[in-house]
Amino acid sequence: MGKINIKSMLKRAVYQFLQSHIERSARNQVGLNLSLWEAGVDQQHHLIMGGCDCTRLAADYGTPLFVVDEKKIRDNYQAFNRALTAYGLEGSVYYSYKTNPVPGIVRVLHDCGAGAEVISAYELWLALKLGVPPERIIYNGPNKSAEGLKTAIDHGIKLININSLSEIDHIERLAAERKKKVRIGVRVSPGVGWGAQFGLKLENGEALTGFRRMAACSHLDPQAIHFHLGTNLQNAHLYQSALAQVFQLLQAIQSEQGLGLRYLDLGGGFGVPTVRGLGNHEIKLNTFFYKPYPPPCVADIKPVSQIIDDIVATFKALCLRFRIHPPTLLFEPGRSLTSNAEILLTRVGDLKTTANGFPIALVDAGINIARPITFEYHEIFVANRMAAPANQRCGLAGPICTPMDFFLKSKKLPILQAGDLLAIMDAGAYFTSFANDFSLPRPAIVMVFEGGHRLIREKESYDDLIRLDHYR
Ligand SMILES: Cc1ncc(COP(=O)(O)O)c(C=O)c1O
Repeated sequence: MGKINIKSMLKRAVYQFLQSHIERSARNQVGLNLSLWEAGVDQQHHLIMGGCDCTRLAADYGTPLFVVDEKKIRDNYQAFNRALTAYGLEGSVYYSYKTNPVPGIVRVLHDCGAGAEVISAYELWLALKLGVPPERIIYNGPNKSAEGLKTAIDHGIKLININSLSEIDHIERLAAERKKKVRIGVRVSPGVGWGAQFGLKLENGEALTGFRRMAACSHLDPQAIHFHLGTNLQNAHLYQSALAQVFQLLQAIQSEQGLGLRYLDLGGGFGVPTVRGLGNHEIKLNTFFYKPYPPPCVADIKPVSQIIDDIVATFKALCLRFRIHPPTLLFEPGRSLTSNAEILLTRVGDLKTTANGFPIALVDAGINIARPITFEYHEIFVANRMAAPANQRCGLAGPICTPMDFFLKSKKLPILQAGDLLAIMDAGAYFTSFANDFSLPRPAIVMVFEGGHRLIREKESYDDLIRLDHYR
C-alpha cells in the first residue's frame, strides 16, 4: 500500500513538474500571423475572407461551414504556373483531385488552365464530367480498377502511370481488346520519400524490368517516368535526390532500347508555410501533458517558386551530364494550390474541464470533418474576436461521442466562450477528402469572391445520408 502511494506521489510530482515546465514554455508561444493568409479583420474584430465577414457567413449558412476563397485559388495557381513559365513549362500543372475533390473548387483550377491528376475511376469520371480534355488528365494510383482503366483507355487520356509490373500486362490486355495504343508512364520508387505500395523500385532494377517488359507490348507506348515523394515538402532536396537516380534509368532505357521519354512527371508534394506534419513524440506530449504544438517555422520553408528553380537547375544539369534530350516536366500539386484558400468555421457550443482542471471547448466540427488536425499543425483564430489575445491553453473536442473526438488536447487560444466562432485555417487540403458521415451530415461549402459568396456544396440532409439504403 505504502509502495503504491509513493509511486503515485512520485508520478504526480513528475506530472506537476512537467506541467509547470510546459506552462512556462507555452507562455511565450505565439501562433502564426493572419497576414500569412492575406485575410483581413474589420473594425468589429471579425475575420474577413474574400471580402466577406466570416461571422455573417456562419450566421447565414450555419456551422460548421467550409469557406473557400476563389481569388486565393486563382492566385496560387498563377504563382505556381508563373514559376514554370520561366522554364517554358506553363500548362504543366495537373491538380491532384484527391486533395480536395469538390467540383466547384477543381472547376476554378481548370478554368485557370490546370489539368487533372486522378487516382480512381470516380475521380476520372468527375474530371471528364467537368469537361477536362482527356489529354489533360493523368491517371495514377495503386490497384486501379478495370473500370477506371477501361475508361482511361477509351478516352485516350494523357498518361496512365503504372504502379506495378502486373499492371503492365493488365493494361496491355485491355488495350489489345480495344485495339488502342495507350500512353504509359512508370511510377518509380526512388528509395527516398514514399515507397512501400507505390511504384517500381529503382534500386533493384524493377523499374528497368518494367520498361523491358513494355518493349514487348504492342499496345503500350511508354512516354514517362513518374514519382511522387510525399506531402508538404519544404525544399527541393528529395526531388533532387530522386532525379539523380531517375536519370540513371533514363540513360539505361535510352542505351538499351533507344527510347527517349517525352515526360518526367514529378508528382506533387510542394509544401505550404502555415501547416506542418506532427511528430509522434509531440503528439504524445500534447495528449498526455497538454503541451501545445509549436507553429511551423515559416522562414525555414522555401516558396514553391524557389523549390521549382532548384528542381529545374538540377534537372538541367543532369540532362547535360547524361546527354539526355530534356523530357517535359509535369507537376501534380495539390496542397500548394488549395490548402490556404479554405477555412473551416466551427462554433463553440459548450465549455468543460478535464478532471485536472484543464479547459476544453466543445465545438460543432470534429474528426468527422477536421481529421488532418490530428496529424498536422493548423492555426486557429477566434473569428468573432480577432483582437482577443491567445493567452490560455485549451483543448478542442468535437460533437462525436467518442474519446477520439477530443481531437486537439491543447492549443494556445483566447479564453473561449460559448458562441465563439473558430476559424481552422488551411482546410483546403485533405479535409473534405478525409471527411465522413460519422453520426453527422457533412457541412456546406461556400465560395467567397471579392465580397460576394455562393454555395458550392449544400450541407447534406438526413435524407442524403440514407438515400442509398434499402430498409423497407
Ligand atoms: C501521385 C500523387 N500526386 C500528387 C499528390 C498531391 O500531393 P500534395 O497535395 O502534397 O501536393 C499526391 C498526394 O498524395 C499523390 O499521391
